[in-house]
Amino acid sequence: MRNLVNIGDMSKSWWDGLYSRCCDIIERPGDFVDSCRGKVLASLFFEPSTRTNFSFQAACMRLGGSVFGFSNPLETSVSKGETLADTIRVASCYADTVVIRSPLEGAATAAALYSEVPVINAGDGGHFHPTQTLADLTTIARYRGGIGGFCIGLCGDLKYGRTVHSLIMALSHFFEISFCLISPPELRAPQYMLDFMREHGQQYIEVERLDECLGMLDILYMTRVQSERFTDKSEYENVRGVYVLTKSLLDGAKRDMIVMHPLPRDGEIAPEVDADSRAVYFEQARNGMFIRMALLLEFLHAPRQMPGLTPAGGLFECVNEVCVTRKERYLPPLRSSGGDDRCGYCDKNIVY
Ligand code: NCD
Repeated sequence: MRNLVNIGDMSKSWWDGLYSRCCDIIERPGDFVDSCRGKVLASLFFEPSTRTNFSFQAACMRLGGSVFGFSNPLETSVSKGETLADTIRVASCYADTVVIRSPLEGAATAAALYSEVPVINAGDGGHFHPTQTLADLTTIARYRGGIGGFCIGLCGDLKYGRTVHSLIMALSHFFEISFCLISPPELRAPQYMLDFMREHGQQYIEVERLDECLGMLDILYMTRVQSERFTDKSEYENVRGVYVLTKSLLDGAKRDMIVMHPLPRDGEIAPEVDADSRAVYFEQARNGMFIRMALLLEFLHAPRQMPGLTPAGGLFECVNEVCVTRKERYLPPLRSSGGDDRCGYCDKNIVY
């Protein structure tokens, strides 16, 4: 795989290879300390991050590579009006792989059009977050001895929760998985995700209360309500604190269920749950570093490739106000693989 912008581009055989490399790294980290010596990672964070940013940096350093970048775009030429395309062209001159996080949906897809080196999407608005999914899959595989044959509850902000969207897509490669989508009506999974699930034959039910399905779950994946994505703050106040997993609630769950969370949490898992052997979210964060090492091992060694010439933009207007095409007006029109009426950057509808 050349870039990792959308987990939908992942094949099962690519995952198998990556996971097997990840297990080698976990078992024999000493064998890999020099495997990326001299390689350089550009870490471009246009939006705050702790885990993803730190874990990419730690992953690169543990392979013997180096990192440059920013976590505050105001300190860069972006504040002088530089386009995303130019920032990426320049960063890709200096680095062997570019990691980008942006509040704009489709930003990594756009970045990949202009980069000479592989691009990794570290989160694009409320859209996708493929490397968190790699951490999630690693955690599931290690705790359950494989991926498949389980019922997973996705709980919280299924509308803006990009980790949930990517996880659902990735799980379409595996068998016998049923989903319990637990959210208030305001935070239901977006239509393009529900369409995806139907098209891929994924079994799901939608419920509002966590205790309605907790007892049948093998995995509970909690998420934070994404306060930063609400345009109307009063809407956020209505759903804030809607789910809180407590010790007493957990009494109604299976003894071998695992509790996952991409972190950071914002009250939806009470600290008392941390001591329960079913709570695996900190281990999940650690797995995130190891699987990113496996990913960087592949990408940092990829050959440099001149990006193809992209035609001029302006042929369609995406309805999504936070789509990258609304800010970066020069971007060429791209159609989504999910349908001709969808934007190829953010998957929302297009108006002609
Ligand atoms: C998630 C994200 O940034 O989308 N965090 C992460 O990368 N581990 C989840 C979140 O912010 O709620």
